[in-house]
Formats: sequence, structure tokens, C-alpha cells
Amino acid sequence: MAANLRYCFISEWLDPASGILWKYQLFYYPESKEVEMVDIKNRRHFLKRTKYEELKPSLLFLGSVVTVFSRQLKLTEYGDEFTRNRMESQSERTLAMIKPDAYKNMGKIINAICQSGFLISKLRIGKLSKEEAGEFYAVHAGKPFVDRLTDFMSSGRVVAMELVAPGAIRKWRELIGPTDSNQARAEAPGSLRAQFGTDKTFNACHGSDAPDTAAEECNFWFGPGRYPGKCDLAAGTTLCLVKPHLVADGAAGLVIDLIQESFEVTAGGLYNLDRNAAAEFLEVYKGVLPAGDFNSMVEQLTSGACIALEVADRDGADAVEPFRQLAGPLDPELGRVLRPASLRARFGLDAVRNGVHCTDLPEDGVLEVNYFFTILPTAS
Ligand code: CMP
Repeated sequence: MAANLRYCFISEWLDPASGILWKYQLFYYPESKEVEMVDIKNRRHFLKRTKYEELKPSLLFLGSVVTVFSRQLKLTEYGDEFTRNRMESQSERTLAMIKPDAYKNMGKIINAICQSGFLISKLRIGKLSKEEAGEFYAVHAGKPFVDRLTDFMSSGRVVAMELVAPGAIRKWRELIGPTDSNQARAEAPGSLRAQFGTDKTFNACHGSDAPDTAAEECNFWFGPGRYPGKCDLAAGTTLCLVKPHLVADGAAGLVIDLIQESFEVTAGGLYNLDRNAAAEFLEVYKGVLPAGDFNSMVEQLTSGACIALEVADRDGADAVEPFRQLAGPLDPELGRVLRPASLRARFGLDAVRNGVHCTDLPEDGVLEVNYFFTILPTAS
């Protein structure tokens, strides 16, 4: 690595208290893992060059949200040509979809995505109408297969994701394999379409084919003011939050796979919670836990992206209590003794980084689900 390497981004931070949008130059020194911030308007140092090992270099791309000392900064522009030249090619983006036929295998597919080195920068589960499916596949309008395709794409839930990686478009198309799942089984048996698809239409996954279509398709799902495929929320469901430490470690797919073994995931999204949202969401624990523990929980929830899931019982019974059983005791250490198969026992590190949050009280299931899926905006 070249000595004295320094990247510069223009970043924005919306002060939730005053509503003021602050702009900073954010410098990152990869060799020493230091950050530095300059307030652009007042032309003065906001943060002097300081070691900050929590910042993951893989999160340095346009549109990303990075947390620096509890402050969520959105990277909006490259700060210099050097950074643009170095980073632009490292952070190509593509739109990936898990189609209705492979929805039950969402956890396995998300795990394959994480293990292949993609960063999931946006994610939303949606159920498209036939019209929305037609809009998404407008380039195929008039082709003989389009009616079957739009019927299929509106027949169940779809997971839409913006994936970021060097050469993401080609890399994702390689991972999913040829369009026709039968051909994929012959030519690329390890590919996702070979494993999870049936034929040329029912082919498990979608991937953009070029940078301009990737931009259009990401905009279809995640563009400002857009919210296609809004899921109806059901009664008796519960909330599972895959916490930032697991998302950052690429373990979200494993957790989702275990959830899908015994529950239905009926809505989902990736969120970057700010301090206000995290504190508001965790408010019920405020008086119950010591202040230090409460602050650590808020800190963990704001330290990076989390994935919120609406979880339902397969037979329509109330899901809160059975899902709490799967989540296990709050403290993973205790869980490893009492319930070693639980999610927290398997994935938790300590009482704060305990892998997942789940709704505690039956009457709170709907409230917590609503908080994420009707009140908060997903990553955009
Ligand atoms: P996807 O990658 O989502 O892009 C367009 C989709 O149209 C494709 O996957 C298939 O699901 C479907 N498709 C493309 N060509 C055909 C075809 N010849 N017959 C049936 N379905 C097709």
C-alpha cells in the first residue's frame, strides 16, 4: 500500500435535534485507520486526525452511510480526483432480486451473496403488483413470455437488493448463472439458478445486465419517493432485527435461513438507524436497564446497517412467544448453556452484541413491526 494514502469524501450529517444538514470533508487514512473531518461551511476542523478502527474501508462508496463516533454520515460525493479514480471501480453497483420461486431460500441466497464478497447496501422485501412487474420489465414489453413473467413476478414476495463490489454486475451474473435454470444445471451447477430455479422464467434470481440498467433498476426499487411492492402487514407477527455486528460480519443470511426453517418472513428491509430512531425504538428498555447498558444498545444499533424482518407463524398463530424461544436468552453466554441452538447462543457475542433483537411482549409485536415498516424510511 502506498505510504500516506488518504481518501476524501464529502459527507452529510442531518442533526436530528436542530434539523440542520452539516457537510463535512471526511478523510480516511487506510494505513493508520485514522479519520479526520473538516466542517465545510465554517472551514474548520470538526475532528482532528484520530484512530478509528471501526470504520470499514468496504463501506467507502457513494451513497453509503458510515458511522463515525456515533454520527451517521452519508457519503454524497468524492472529495478529490484521487479518491474517485481509486474508489469508483471498486464500488460498482447492481440490482439483484430473489424471485418468488426462490423466496423460501432467501437466507441461503443472501449467505451466498455475503460469502462472495458483495456488500448489500440496500434491501427491501416487496410484493409487486402485475403492473409494477410490467413496469420493471418494460424492456421486454410485447415479447411472448412477458405475461407469464409478470404473473410469476407478482405471485409472491421478492427480495430486492443493491449490491456493491468491484465488477458487481458481472460478478452477480456469474453467481446466478445462465438465464435458463436447466442450462445452468448443465453448465454452471453451483450457480444460484441451477440450485434454486426451474426453467427459463422461473429462474430464482435476477441481475442487471449493464451499468445503465443497474442504475434504472436500483432507482425502480430504491429511488426517492418510490416504494413499489409495499407488503400488507399481518396481525400476530413479531419483529426480528438482525443487529449491525452480524450484518457487518456477513452473517445475516445464516440467521435468515434458520428463521425460515420454522417461520415465514413476511416483510423486510435494511435500515441505517440514527440515534433518535434507535433510542425511540428501544425506549421501553430505558427504565428497565442500567443507563450504561441502554446507551450501549443504542450505540450498537447505530453502528451500521441492520436488517428488520416481520416474522409470522406458518399457521397464523401469534409469533411473538415462539420466536422469542428461537431467539433465546438475552445474554448469549446464558443461552449457550440453556438453549445452545437459539440464535443468540449461536451468533451473539455478548449481551449487547447479541445477534438479534426480538419483540418481547405479545402486545408489542404489531407496534414494533409497524415502527419499522410504516414509520421509518429504509436505506435510500
Ligand atoms: P431476468 O434475469 O429476470 O430478466 C428477464 C427475465 O425474463 C428472465 O430473467 C426470465 O425470467 C425471463 N425470460 C427471458 N427470456 C425468456 C424466454 N425466452 N422465455 C421465458 N422467459 C424468459
